[in-house]
Amino acid sequence: MSALFEPLTLRNLTIPNRVWMSPMCQYSAAVEGPEQGVPTDWHLTHLGSRAVGGAGLIVVEATAVSPEGRISPADLGLWNERQQERFGRIARFLADQGAVPGIQLAHAGRKASTDRPWRGGAPVGPEDHGWRPVAPSPIPFAEGHPVPDELSEAGIRRLVESFAAAARRALAAGFKVVDIHGAHGYLIHEFLSPFSNHRTDAYGGGFENRARFALEVVDAVRAEWPEELPVFFRVSATDWLSENPEDPREGWTADDTVRLAKELLAHGVDLLDVSTGGNAPKARIPMGPGYQVPFAARVKAETDLPTSAVGLITEPRQAEEIVASGQADAVMLGRELLRDPYWPHNAARELGAAARRPDQYGWAV
Ligand code: FNR
Repeated sequence: MSALFEPLTLRNLTIPNRVWMSPMCQYSAAVEGPEQGVPTDWHLTHLGSRAVGGAGLIVVEATAVSPEGRISPADLGLWNERQQERFGRIARFLADQGAVPGIQLAHAGRKASTDRPWRGGAPVGPEDHGWRPVAPSPIPFAEGHPVPDELSEAGIRRLVESFAAAARRALAAGFKVVDIHGAHGYLIHEFLSPFSNHRTDAYGGGFENRARFALEVVDAVRAEWPEELPVFFRVSATDWLSENPEDPREGWTADDTVRLAKELLAHGVDLLDVSTGGNAPKARIPMGPGYQVPFAARVKAETDLPTSAVGLITEPRQAEEIVASGQADAVMLGRELLRDPYWPHNAARELGAAARRPDQYGWAV
């Protein structure tokens, strides 16, 4: 019996297995005009292949809740009707393959307005379809990045509403899971971490104030999302700053993550999607197989919130062990699913579990 291929039920939603596709930006939408931020055939094929390949849940890439929340001008967005309609086609196709369609809602904060990674990823200005980013505090992400505009309280309120509106559109498009992007140095993480949040109003200072924006977004999304469907939150469990003697500035820690997890649970979040890093460019990260799993395991051990683990999970037996030992309720795969969309089918075979193949293939192989 494989734990990895057991279904998981969160609220009234049953996800057929615990091998999930991690959100991965494709930077492949039109940068201007009516197709701006609108999913293309690339997105349908990219996501659809992984559903055909047997992933139980597909989490669509970081999708911006407002135009200035895009990481690059070519990011997907969910702030208008056309985007919603085209996402509907994707959600339907994923569901038709037996996968649960999920979507990550995001705002890139001070890391917005950069070039596509394969063109170098540097900040871009208006001449390259860029814009001036916003953030909790006017502190650039790194050398060469612009000073972001400090958000006013009215600006914060508008963004909370943007998350709610995008959640409404995601639901109408047919998604069953929404993953709020609170990780990787993007806007919500920027508020959480004292490294990037130097505000002195109700949104900065102590833990409660720094967590205020995250919890307001969660409340706003929860209010739109049906009782019977789950909301996920992706966190960076640590800024990895205490590990770095060259950059000892105070950052977000694993203790903070445990405290946040309890708050998130109380605010109606159903699963913590546990990643790390992304907020401090000089942080030293000890990468290796499953290096972020202990953070998911700690949240599971110390709270009642289910977790998923992500990061250098590449082997079926490794994934099986993470779930079977109770370190996480599910694994998310990123790059390994880019290499091999059929990873879930092959892992099922290796682990002696039944693979959920489409009829078109299943009768033949
Ligand atoms: C990512 N990652 C990512 N994370 C996220 O929360 N939202 C996103 O849109 C993206 N985009 C993205 C694009 C690409 C091309 C890669 C490779 C990664 C991070 C990703 O979801 C995952 O957490 C990491 O890649 C670590 O997992 P793997 O790749 O080691 O399985």
